[in-house]
Amino acid sequence: MAKSTLSFVCQNCGAAYNRWQGKCESCGEWNTLAEEDTTGATSMPVSIRSKRKGRTFALESLTGKSQDAPRTSSGMAELDRVTGGGFVRGSVLLVGGDPGIGKSTLLTQATSMMARAGHRAVYISGEEAVAQVRLRAERLGLADAPVQLASETSVEDIISTLSEGAVPRLIVIDSIQTMWTDTVESAPGTVTQVRAAAQALIRFAKKSGATIILVGHVTKDGQIAGPRVVEHMVDAVLSFEGEGSQQFRILRAAKNRFGATDEIGVFEMTGLGLREVTNPSELFLSERDLGSPGTAVFAGIEGTRPVLVELQALVAPTSLGTPRRAVVGWDPSRLSMVLAVLEAHCGVKLSGHDVYFNVAGGLRIQEPAADMAAAAALVSSLVNAPLPTDAVYFGEISLSGAVRPVAQTSARLKEAAKLGFGRAILPESARGDVGGDAGLTLNSVGNLTTLVAEIAALGTPRGRAAQRDPEAAEKNATPARFRRETS
Ligand code: TYD
Ligand code: MG
Repeated sequence: MAKSTLSFVCQNCGAAYNRWQGKCESCGEWNTLAEEDTTGATSMPVSIRSKRKGRTFALESLTGKSQDAPRTSSGMAELDRVTGGGFVRGSVLLVGGDPGIGKSTLLTQATSMMARAGHRAVYISGEEAVAQVRLRAERLGLADAPVQLASETSVEDIISTLSEGAVPRLIVIDSIQTMWTDTVESAPGTVTQVRAAAQALIRFAKKSGATIILVGHVTKDGQIAGPRVVEHMVDAVLSFEGEGSQQFRILRAAKNRFGATDEIGVFEMTGLGLREVTNPSELFLSERDLGSPGTAVFAGIEGTRPVLVELQALVAPTSLGTPRRAVVGWDPSRLSMVLAVLEAHCGVKLSGHDVYFNVAGGLRIQEPAADMAAAAALVSSLVNAPLPTDAVYFGEISLSGAVRPVAQTSARLKEAAKLGFGRAILPESARGDVGGDAGLTLNSVGNLTTLVAEIAALGTPRGRAAQRDPEAAEKNATPARFRRETS
């Protein structure tokens, strides 16, 4: 019997220490060290292990024949979009998300769809009893799907059971934190257990060709608890996100060995489970507060798909020495940059104001193309003038205040036109990318100063009148600060 080695393992990053300490030096987290037996996943004595001669195996070429159709559709288009076109044989996915966000619901639906399509689909719940899973399936109207169901937590038992009969096409393990293997001593949910259990399941997936989805819990700060270590081992990490109060949920790939990571899948949680949302823009814009200052519609791109979303800003005088900057759904340092450019180049004084910024609908934006829409929303809130309701904005702002072009101009414009928008405020140099008739008026902006002046003009009585009756205003020859051309 190998000597058991007890060490203190960080439950966040997996670093091991000989003695307990308050802070993990590897990831900087406090109070994450727990005592674990890290003897290893093998009970073979070290003396034998080191003497054992390695087994020889065949080496193969890259051009060898692989199985046909390595991908299987899940039957849910939004899920397929995020996985990169369906489940790859022998791959392992980790799905993370807050408790109650709908992970079990999503995966119950996916297994049922696969089972209905004639594949062997297995759902193993370590958290709920079979009756509870059945109840959910009934509620979803999927009780008739031939899903194979079990409430189990022993990895060895699960693998032995699933090795019999036809290879399952999809196996859902809900959740990896509840699984345990006899090969290690630690309690279920600890890093060592989670890692060993995941390793065993991954080995089974690779050997059998089944796709395994592991559900992982997320800690309060949004990381997949414990299984940070698992993230490195699996082929794809998907996170299921959403605001508790809102009905829609976004599935996003944080890592994907078999597809892009910038695609998002959008779902709506209804009384009958998750409904796929094929046109997210309609959803994100459905509850727009038309005509209120501080909101701008951003024409963005998520993966391959254009998504229109409302950006909201509230700029209010502060009584604090250091004004507040609160951001939801966007990079705070990006907001700071836009504020600095507004202040330095456009004469917009914001240092005496609190700034609150929000992306509607719980979407998280990563594109720099949102800069211009954000700036428009901020200035609109500051001067208390609503922006035109039929306008979309996109463009990256450089530190000099110039508006830089962004990719996929025509896809953005097409989406805006489709949703009934009449004009787009876009970078000057992007006009060349627009092939033919864009279907909407293009206002190109070369510099942020131009945009600020135009919005500031909306705040004056004359500008307000122009908002109400643009044609009369045009006749009155309000100096147009935009170069306005109809394509
Ligand atoms: P669940 O899938 O159990 O979440 P997770 O596995 O991520 O913890 O979903 C739980 C929530 O979803 C619960 O608060 C109720 C809600 N829900 C619906 O609104 N409609 C439905 O049809 C189902 C099954 C759940
Ligand atoms: Mg669950």
